[in-house]
Amino acid sequence: MLPQLFDILVCPLCKSHQLKLQKATFQENEVWSGNILCENCSNTYPIQTGIPCLLSSELLAAQDNPDTEQWIRKKKDIENSILDENLETFKIVHKETAQKDGLNEKIDRFVWEKILHQDNQSLRDKLGTNKASKWVITKNNLYNRNERIFAKITELKDAFAGSQVLNVGVGIDDDLIDRLSSAGTKVVNCDIVIDTLIEVKSRNKVECVSSDIKSLPFDKQSFDAVFCFLVLHHIDLLHEALSEIMRVLKPGGSVFILEINPYTPIKLPGKIFPTLIKKVIRKVMRKCMAGSDQRIFKSSPYEKIYPSKFIISSMINAGFYNVTRKVASHYPSFIIFPFSKIWDFLSFNLPFLFDPIAFEYLFYGKKTS
Ligand SMILES: C[S@@+](CC[C@H](N)C(=O)[O-])C[C@H]1O[C@@H](n2cnc3c(N)ncnc32)[C@H](O)[C@@H]1O
Ligand SMILES: [Zn+2]
Repeated sequence: MLPQLFDILVCPLCKSHQLKLQKATFQENEVWSGNILCENCSNTYPIQTGIPCLLSSELLAAQDNPDTEQWIRKKKDIENSILDENLETFKIVHKETAQKDGLNEKIDRFVWEKILHQDNQSLRDKLGTNKASKWVITKNNLYNRNERIFAKITELKDAFAGSQVLNVGVGIDDDLIDRLSSAGTKVVNCDIVIDTLIEVKSRNKVECVSSDIKSLPFDKQSFDAVFCFLVLHHIDLLHEALSEIMRVLKPGGSVFILEINPYTPIKLPGKIFPTLIKKVIRKVMRKCMAGSDQRIFKSSPYEKIYPSKFIISSMINAGFYNVTRKVASHYPSFIIFPFSKIWDFLSFNLPFLFDPIAFEYLFYGKKTS
């Protein structure tokens, strides 16, 4: 982290500015390791490989793989789920067991994010040389996704030029980082999983801060724009996340939220096909993933895709105005030619039919000046 980042950092828990750098080491012009002490509430936060980790103590403790019985059981549980064909049943059973065991839901949620991140990364690494990469999500598809969104939505082009931007829930999307970092923009990338940011920072020389979207460690009115791409479906209480985004935005600032539409027909087979057919489809797809550890189509049992009406009303309740929804993509990137062309043609000519069943929407909102 650059020392200037302290200008906007606050304690995530008490929001105090009284942060003191302790035992710091420096690499080039960055603070590379050490601690940040909040002199107001006495909490300390580590700095790891240039990344300040401004998370609650329980989330910090859960970042490493502790050698406890509970953690080992959890890993096993998740491993089993990965091989489980009937994901819907698994999700319900998993949630019930977690509740019965009195597992802390916050930590359980986080552990899923961490494990899925490890999975996504290994999947992405392996897909590079795999024939399945042609039709499942790859780095290039991710690039195409952003390409399409940025080409289509004019507000995006000017909103962040030369300004201070927060990219929250960055994941492993290097392409979005590149796009946001252009035009002299100062970008701060956040994620709840430290491992994610360590990878991001090793590939891109960018500012990364580990934090929870529901408790952002930034001062009020710090950013001109906030990007929140595919994160809200990981969050249980949208109002907490949205009011944090509102707080850190400068007056007149913009928020860009990308989310999947729960009514996309891509989800239809999962809803209407009997389990046996789903099993066959998954088996075929896994076969194409030969060479990988076959972990595909995994989501955390806590993920919840919200209808756009709910996202819009939550944004308005959080105080955003000018809230609009635009189609970001009508279908996912793995839809291949000629189906993609037919889908493009139909959705362009029949928007009233195809927009409500689009794949992803971009929601836009402004904070009053
Ligand atoms: C589906 S990925 C999206 C990544 C990227 N923004 C993209 O569009 O490809 C969701 C990301 O949100 C992060 N995340 C989940 N819960 C979060 C929270 N409470 N606070 C911050 N980030 C969170 C996950 O670790 C993950 O990297
Ligand atoms: Zn504090």
